[in-house]
Amino acid sequence: MDYHIFDTEEIDHQQCYRLLIGSIVPRPIAWVSSIDANGVPNLAPFSFFSIASHYPPLITIAVGEKDKALKDTAANISTTRGYVIHTVTDDWADHMNSSAANYAPGQDEFAEIGIETVPSDLVDAPRIKGCPLAMECTFEQMLEFGDEWKTHLVIGRVLRWHVRKDLMLDDKYVNPHTLKPVGRLGGPCYCRTHDIYEMKAPYVQPDVAHPNMGERN
Ligand SMILES: Cc1cc2nc3c(=O)[nH]c(=O)nc-3n(C[C@H](O)[C@H](O)[C@H](O)COP(=O)(O)O)c2cc1C
Repeated sequence: MDYHIFDTEEIDHQQCYRLLIGSIVPRPIAWVSSIDANGVPNLAPFSFFSIASHYPPLITIAVGEKDKALKDTAANISTTRGYVIHTVTDDWADHMNSSAANYAPGQDEFAEIGIETVPSDLVDAPRIKGCPLAMECTFEQMLEFGDEWKTHLVIGRVLRWHVRKDLMLDDKYVNPHTLKPVGRLGGPCYCRTHDIYEMKAPYVQPDVAHPNMGERN
């Protein structure tokens, strides 16, 4: 079997980016509502998105730079601290994509795209009206990486979830079948989650409690 070998030291930033976004797939998409110091709201998607810790519930987005300056989302979050991350689902994918356009700082993507909002409960940034799942978050920490190409890893704490009631199973679990989340793949490709299946982790030590056994995790 032939493999193409890429060593980081021998490739440029663009090829690194291509390999990362093609290798780490599918990625969830954080659709982030934030607000600037003048109260202007902002909306943008981020697929460098992950869980840093489940308790406390800390979640991360990695925000690159635009014209050698912080993107609005990272600038807003570090200034006004409260923001909302929405899970992108089938019905919202087109709107999500529209919000990735290169709007100028101070331009309100909600107004430009025609997305209605409702006030959040605990933070100043608004929540998208009708979005099935949203997390109100507060800024914890920002870590900066890189020299020529800077990335800002934004760590936030989830304060409150808003999960549409019909998406809950036993009032505990989010039902992936009805949520219909969308994932980001390499290049401009996306995937839907219409082929979901279950696998249980093998149970090989009868005397040792298995984290995946008993209650569904
Ligand atoms: C699906 C999707 C995922 C994206 N993920 C990221 C990401 O993880 N990090 C990033 O810096 N930009 C990402 N972008 C690009 C930003 O959304 C884009 O630069 C946006 O204009 C930033 O907006 P802002 O300046 O209002 O924060 C993504 C775009 C799309 C469509």
